Amino acid sequence: MRPHATPRLAALTLATAATFVAPAQAQEAGQLNVICSVQAEWCNMIQTVFARSTGIKVNMSLKGSGEALAQLIAERANPKTDVWFGGTGDPHLQAAEQGLSLEYKSKALPQLHAWAQQQAQQSGYKTVGIYSGPLGFGYNTELIAKKKLAVPKTWNDLLNPALKGEIQVANPASSGTAYTMVATLVQLMGEEKAFDYMKALHKNIATYTRSGTAPIKAAARGETTISISFVHDGPGEAMQGFPVATITPTDGTGAEIGSMSIIKGSRNLDAAKKFYEWALTAQAQQFGAAAKQFQLPSNKATPLDPRIPDFKSIKFINYDYAKYGASAERRRLLARWEKDVNSLPR
Ligand code: F6P
Repeated sequence: MRPHATPRLAALTLATAATFVAPAQAQEAGQLNVICSVQAEWCNMIQTVFARSTGIKVNMSLKGSGEALAQLIAERANPKTDVWFGGTGDPHLQAAEQGLSLEYKSKALPQLHAWAQQQAQQSGYKTVGIYSGPLGFGYNTELIAKKKLAVPKTWNDLLNPALKGEIQVANPASSGTAYTMVATLVQLMGEEKAFDYMKALHKNIATYTRSGTAPIKAAARGETTISISFVHDGPGEAMQGFPVATITPTDGTGAEIGSMSIIKGSRNLDAAKKFYEWALTAQAQQFGAAAKQFQLPSNKATPLDPRIPDFKSIKFINYDYAKYGASAERRRLLARWEKDVNSLPR
């Protein structure tokens, strides 16, 4: 049985964690530049709580996983970022391989789930798992009923010609969510069949968005009927009163290992390590659910909100994180997607 945290408990934790720090102390404590690749509410919450409890000023910049990696590559000679928090694990592994992130072995590693520790080991301790979440479909419950469409249960169901223009997914170059889809399909179907599938799916895609969470927001608001999304991004939309539900394909799906890395050349290294250690605590990991984001936290002691997807009921592929997080493989698959899929007329 999972212990459950109520939103009230999370709010309480937020209040107690945010101990007041006097302005003079804040000046001495320094600052930290963070690229944040989860949704804004969670980024804002950790920015406020960490700053209030340590006095360290946090400058946050919100970027999708692929965009964050592109920024770190561009900044390589003169890094302006100290910590990259969140976003899918594949580009974090790529950053590690390219020497963009710093080796750092947290004492908290044994407190983390095996998948989060494995992410650290695989990267030579240059990144670590902070959450996980399954890929699936989101759909607008009212639109799907009104248009008399069936809820898609398998990847092939998305190829139904009746869904022409009814599906949104992000662009895998900017979005880790969409790259997770590409890598998942390649592993599920084999590369040739996966690309044939994505070419066929292209006919039903209304638009490829920049951000991975945009499609489920569009589905929630009735701007599209179906999205390909991480299913943990569904409940937050439903809590705002939107008619949106999620489902995972019965033929198998992948999961992300949302990750965190300290950037090599960080100018605020002590503050970066402090933030990193804090972000791995069970207390800090509750802020995801408190910000209505329902990934599975990596610290085993984090109380679990009942809206976090039940991993045991989902059919997962054995996602090869090392292979699909390798620079050459990610670059190759993205280039092939651009050439074979995105350039096709619809
Ligand atoms: O913040 C929600 C989320 O789905 C995370 O779980 C994930 O790591 C991130 O978005 C991916 O965003 P993008 O697809 O834009 O890179």
